[in-house]
Amino acid sequence: MNENQRLEGQQVQTENSSDKKSSKDYSKYFETVYTAPSLKDAKKRGKEEVKYHKDFDLPEEFLGMGQGRKFYIRTYGCQMNEHDTEVMAGIFLGLGYEPTDSVEDANVILLNTCAIRENAENKVFGELGHLKHLKREKPDLLLGVCGCMSQEESVVNKILKTYNQVDMIFGTHNIHRLPHILQEAYMSKEMVVEVWSKEGDVIENLPKVRRGNIKAWVNIMYGCDKFCTYCIVPYTRGKERSRRPDDIIQEVRQLAAQGYQEITLLGQNVNAYGKDFTDIKYGLGDLMDEISKIDIPRIRFTTSHPRDFDDHLIQVLAKGGNLMDHIHLPVQSGSTDILKIMARKYTREQYLELVRKIKAAIPNVTLTTDIIVGYPNETDEQFEDTMSLVREVGYESAYTFIYSPREGTPAAKMQDNVPMEVKKERLQRLNALVNEQSAQSMKKYQDQIVEVLVEGESKNNPDVLAGYTSKLKLVNFVGPKTAIGKIVKVKITDAKTWSLNGEMVEEIEPVEVK
Ligand code: SAH
Ligand code: SF4
Ligand code: F3S
Repeated sequence: MNENQRLEGQQVQTENSSDKKSSKDYSKYFETVYTAPSLKDAKKRGKEEVKYHKDFDLPEEFLGMGQGRKFYIRTYGCQMNEHDTEVMAGIFLGLGYEPTDSVEDANVILLNTCAIRENAENKVFGELGHLKHLKREKPDLLLGVCGCMSQEESVVNKILKTYNQVDMIFGTHNIHRLPHILQEAYMSKEMVVEVWSKEGDVIENLPKVRRGNIKAWVNIMYGCDKFCTYCIVPYTRGKERSRRPDDIIQEVRQLAAQGYQEITLLGQNVNAYGKDFTDIKYGLGDLMDEISKIDIPRIRFTTSHPRDFDDHLIQVLAKGGNLMDHIHLPVQSGSTDILKIMARKYTREQYLELVRKIKAAIPNVTLTTDIIVGYPNETDEQFEDTMSLVREVGYESAYTFIYSPREGTPAAKMQDNVPMEVKKERLQRLNALVNEQSAQSMKKYQDQIVEVLVEGESKNNPDVLAGYTSKLKLVNFVGPKTAIGKIVKVKITDAKTWSLNGEMVEEIEPVEVK
């Protein structure tokens, strides 16, 4: 498929190219200079089949573009964005750029952004303000905004109007177009905007530079069709598209051969994996079953949606082995009424029933969750339902958020009678409960021996090593640097609220903590 065909069906506006620095040879790319996002288009879900492209190559005419230039990418948001950054880094290296970890040193700076809550967006606007002086000092510096915020028309308009230090904006569906976008930004005086509202096809074998050689992320699907009423993700990431099992399995096999110790399968709603296949009946349970046979010590997945969590997956996870005994199962609220307005499509009782089934099949399981407090018109009683559910499930940790209205989502139009002080007070109470439960869960490890995948030196103390247990508990411990990248046994000497301290021990079998 050539680029023009790829653009078919996209909203393309062409700018007059007469004011370009040079029109030499590059005119064929100018048509994409301004492709703005539309949340209305992003909402549409077409019936057309997903196409898979396995022949991605960096365009030859751009190879060497990065000679003598350095790139810097700052990533906000979820693992999906972290992984997209690895792909973009792969593209930069392929073009001949060198990485740098200093913005002052960079010739191209990208902000890979997150749109999930207002404060996530504010951080990016703040950063754009900070970077303005660099543009003044170094006029040939390219500053780009990509990721989920680029998919929002209000953000693109605000940047166009107020942040003229930005040279390029491109969307989550345009990552593979980075070489063209860079070329255009070098050639154009105008801000280059290329954001497709409608998701593209699935593009395999994009280059990737993974961060580290111990843990790796593997995308199993893109997009989300759940349309929870508060959430911007279905608009910024498009419709659900699963990668083919063979491609995923091949990638995991390669990672195992390269010595990776842990992989995390990624998707916005991994339990919907395979629902879009029309030729085979194949779901997340089938995929996990096959991947568990690959010789890699630890396998995780995130994020689960309770509604699609089926019995087959529970059976597969119950086999244990390299499938980790930790499940992140976002609940969002413990009130059936609020869940209904959120369009989560399960009740409190159905969620608790799923938890009961999981605990029965995997008695040693650790559950964690995401919760939103202060949904429009949430009553005290409804909030208490969330508190009681947290106790009942016994989460060992939770990400908790105050609801943040996202323009274009149904919830943003709802009247809200809950004052911010009340929301903050609810969040504090919820956090106090979660902390208490976390501390309780940690206490059980005192004097026990756990297996830790050692990731490196502790962030706060280079004399101490840090890593995670199978249940994702952070362990800081004294041990030799040769342990980095290995799974070792550590005796816990001090159990804190969010982490464990210990000493490495050898030749001792780990004790199961129930
Ligand atoms: N796909 C995942 C995670 C999506 S974003 C899932 O469905 O679980 C991660 C978390 O951010 C969500 O689980 C939710 O708790 C929170 N979140 C999403 N939109 C939000 C909003 N508008 N305001 C506050 N929190 C939000
Ligand atoms: Fe957002 Fe809901 Fe999709 Fe998660 S499942 S990404 S919360 S719409
Ligand atoms: Fe944020 Fe986009 Fe992830 S909105 S949470 S970066 S999918």
